Amino acid sequence: TKPRIYVTRVLPDQAMKILDQYFEYDVFRGNSAIPQDTLIKNVKDCVGLLCLLTDPINETVISHPNFSKIKMVANYAVGYENVNVAKLSELKIPVTNTPGCLTEATADIAMSLILATHQRFLQHDQALRSNQNGTILNFQKDTQDLNLDPLCNKTLGIVGLGRIGQALAIRARGFGMKILAYTRTPRPKISQRIGVEELTKMDDLLQYSDFVSLNCPCTEQTKHLIGMEQLKMMKESAILINTARGKIVVEDDLIYALKKRIIKAAGLDVFYNEPKINPELSKLQNTVLLPHIGSATTRARAGMGILAAQSLVDYLVHKKWPKNFVNKDIFIK
Ligand code: GLV
Ligand code: GLV
Repeated sequence: TKPRIYVTRVLPDQAMKILDQYFEYDVFRGNSAIPQDTLIKNVKDCVGLLCLLTDPINETVISHPNFSKIKMVANYAVGYENVNVAKLSELKIPVTNTPGCLTEATADIAMSLILATHQRFLQHDQALRSNQNGTILNFQKDTQDLNLDPLCNKTLGIVGLGRIGQALAIRARGFGMKILAYTRTPRPKISQRIGVEELTKMDDLLQYSDFVSLNCPCTEQTKHLIGMEQLKMMKESAILINTARGKIVVEDDLIYALKKRIIKAAGLDVFYNEPKINPELSKLQNTVLLPHIGSATTRARAGMGILAAQSLVDYLVHKKWPKNFVNKDIFIK
């Protein structure tokens, strides 16, 4: 008989085909994130769980008797801060994520936010649409509406030089930007190859950058990495780009800084209390806000689904260690 698993969302077809072939499974078909009690009810008798970053796999879930047969958790995301990995490691349960699949898509969104905030696309678009004459406005006379410099005279500071940070650097280099990076793991060879200057202090990056892009995972070390102190170190003309995780930034501090023009603008694809948006943020004119679409390409989502499904097959069917498990230390001592 096939191993039984539970899936908290209908995945792209290519992934569902893999599941059909190897597993008995149920899938949650609701439109929003699965309620926790529904998840708990449905994991009963399952050996695998395929979940989303909107599903907290916390103590309540893990310690529930219905969870006791689970042998593996595959998270359909590259970030996995929704999963209590420490707890699962204690239970010798591997956890996998989906690295690589969404690198290019997310870097595109980060670059798009740099362009959209720098060029003030939204304001210009709104002005054009609301102009009753049905003509495009003449050359802007108001100097406030002009960009002082093209991007090739700007410096981008990347916090976190993993796959996505590197892919963003390559894009920004194409625009002639100067690139600084602050990263936990120094990568001198890569930095040299892609033309990035690594700094040893984040404060320096904040101080020298015209754009600061967050591309690190959300961990205990990076939660609230950017608060008022850091925002004040940034230039008044600086723009913050976040395509990583909302909780890396103290959002109330960011809102204050945007209101008081401590920094100039922000381009955000992620928010503190996702899927809820702080209404103060949406009232601001100096923000560009996207509904977490960093991985929203067909290719990225299919890749993520296939990788998550295949990881479950590797471990639960073929008894092989999945390539992409995040708690390797439970096997390799
Ligand atoms: C998306 O945010 C992901 O972590 O995959
Ligand atoms: C994306 O794939 C990353 O881990 O940077």
